[in-house]
Amino acid sequence: MYDLLIVGSGGAGLSAALEAKKEGLCVAVICQSSPTSAATCMAQGGLNGVVYEDSGDSPSLHVSDTIKGGAGLCDEKMVRHMCEGAKEDILWLDSIGMPFSRKKERIAQRKFGAASCDRTTYSQDYTGLKLLHTLYDNCLKNNIEFLDETFVLDLIVEESTCRGVVALKDGKVKALCSKATLLATGGYAGIYHGFSTNAMESTGDGIALALRAGAKLSDMEFVQFHPTSLKSSSVLVSESARGAGGFLVNQKEERFVDELSSRDEVSRAVFSQIENGNEVFLDIRHLGNEFISKNLPQEKKLIQIHEHIDPSKELIPVTPAAHYSMGGIDVNEDLQTSLRGLYAAGECSNVKVHGANRLGGNSLLEIVHFGRAVVSKLKLATLHVDTKRQEEKAKQKLNRLFSDKKSSTFFELRSTLGKELFKKAGIFRDKNGLENLTKNIEDLQNRFDKLTISDTNLKDNGWLVCHLKFANSLCIAKVVVLSALAREESRGAHFRKEFQNTDKIALHSYVDSSLEVRFQNED
Ligand code: FUM
Repeated sequence: MYDLLIVGSGGAGLSAALEAKKEGLCVAVICQSSPTSAATCMAQGGLNGVVYEDSGDSPSLHVSDTIKGGAGLCDEKMVRHMCEGAKEDILWLDSIGMPFSRKKERIAQRKFGAASCDRTTYSQDYTGLKLLHTLYDNCLKNNIEFLDETFVLDLIVEESTCRGVVALKDGKVKALCSKATLLATGGYAGIYHGFSTNAMESTGDGIALALRAGAKLSDMEFVQFHPTSLKSSSVLVSESARGAGGFLVNQKEERFVDELSSRDEVSRAVFSQIENGNEVFLDIRHLGNEFISKNLPQEKKLIQIHEHIDPSKELIPVTPAAHYSMGGIDVNEDLQTSLRGLYAAGECSNVKVHGANRLGGNSLLEIVHFGRAVVSKLKLATLHVDTKRQEEKAKQKLNRLFSDKKSSTFFELRSTLGKELFKKAGIFRDKNGLENLTKNIEDLQNRFDKLTISDTNLKDNGWLVCHLKFANSLCIAKVVVLSALAREESRGAHFRKEFQNTDKIALHSYVDSSLEVRFQNED
């Protein structure tokens, strides 16, 4: 029996693990694959926080920028909690070895969109990668237990309380009991398969687990589209390129938007250009090769690999792509979900610091800040769990998937889902498109339900895991679309063509396993 089981080994999970260890808790981290493969390592541009008050910046400016970006849906108390704690989080990271880029002896900071000051700390353009490795390195030094290659099948819920997880590990279905369980499993932008900066692993697994177990989700319609991904691969080109002075231009080399507006606005402007038959490019030629090589080395390499061009000499073809999910498992100010014993932190949670549109650089801050903060909020309680019964239930569910009948694969279904989501629940949405998408998803679900798996091995069965992850994608897609249909206004990243105004009163959307969408001020 653990004190704390953490599902997910990204920045939120590892920050929580370090804090839990410091508090003397018996903690383990569950990783779907290996510990350093989490999506955190794909974050490039940086982590926001006011480190030096003599720079003209202040935590209250950070709070007001964040709230303005969030279009009425931020919880001011939680935003304050995060922004006022940012300096301590950054200095903590610095103290445990995070290789921040520096200007003289100070941690360097640069400007990101919709920020009133240079507030984003960074490690060249490898910020997420360095952050994750720094945290992991410290977890190793602190002998934190990792359960690698472990796929969580279900949460254990007894007496309306979460008591751990049932997972597929080393070819066995195992119940792992815990006095508290933290989901830190990342977001769901990967369900926009083929149109996302995320890896295909980002299928919202923890969110689907929580929903199945009876926890509430909120604001699921808010998916952020990053304005600049590479046209031929959807690989991210960091906002830091625009922060450093990069331009967005069309094929006539005309600029058409303030490149440092909020992401939702820039994405809409880029997408409108493309819908009108134009091509869109990021132009960083004027920054010069020396600057690009020093500050944006990863961008340079990725652009060379995926677009075969030299960004210091040529225009970079870009397009918006699904990048981040603001919605997630609803949590209160103690990071507790609506299910006792179950907590959530990081992108899978909705602690309402991003509202309807997250500012670049605030996600790495959120995962470290709330990953660390959640530990002091945990209420640990022991409860007897009938592990045999839990394991049997999960095995029976798996057995229903196996059959030696020949079956086709779900890969085509996954591509169709990504394409349809981007088209109909993308940057611009409307009733017809969303209703049509509901039917598309039903059809995909019917086709998926007929698929079976012929390899009955429980060990190293990648096919089985991909199958289960696609089931989660379909579940999350349904919730995103239902929530987007129900929200008859435009706000932040959610833009409805037929309801272009923002309602005066900002309401959060909530969904539980009944899949009914309700709107409320605070829940
Ligand atoms: O553009 C970027 O570097 C992304 C940063 C973020 O999403 O916070």
